[in-house]
Amino acid sequence: PKILILNGPNLNLLGARQPEIYGRETLDDVAAACASLGTSLGLDTDLRQSNHEGQLVDWIQEARGTAAGIVINPGAYTHTSIAILDALNAFDGPVIEVHVSNVHRREDFRRHSYVSLRADGVIAGFGTEGYTLALRRMASLVPGAKP
Ligand code: DQA
Repeated sequence: PKILILNGPNLNLLGARQPEIYGRETLDDVAAACASLGTSLGLDTDLRQSNHEGQLVDWIQEARGTAAGIVINPGAYTHTSIAILDALNAFDGPVIEVHVSNVHRREDFRRHSYVSLRADGVIAGFGTEGYTLALRRMASLVPGAKP
């Protein structure tokens, strides 16, 4: 089964941007870690990043019928985007929301997530390891994986 791993704005700068908050690992490192764990879990991972809300909406729509599950770190769109929530609501498989930082230990505006209204689970504050943790959970949720 295919798992789409979507990343929103500024996550292309992961590893370089505010490393005291987001760590030193890059999104390429995350993609490599997910691909390798995915192989052992029987999951085919496809990691993408966009700074544009509409692009993320398009990818979520495309996932209908082509992906078994979605792992998503929507970046700042977490806190603003009804469009991303609506797109996820039109997707049938499991959705896991990931945040590299602990959004509850930061500014108040980061504590509310539109995406959480749809997510089957939320991982925050485990650094980039959150992505592989999400993938392990995905393997338990989607048929045909090897958890
Ligand atoms: C983030 C947390 C968001 O509040 C922030 O806007 C991001 C990254 C995280 O991974 O911790 O861009 O989603």
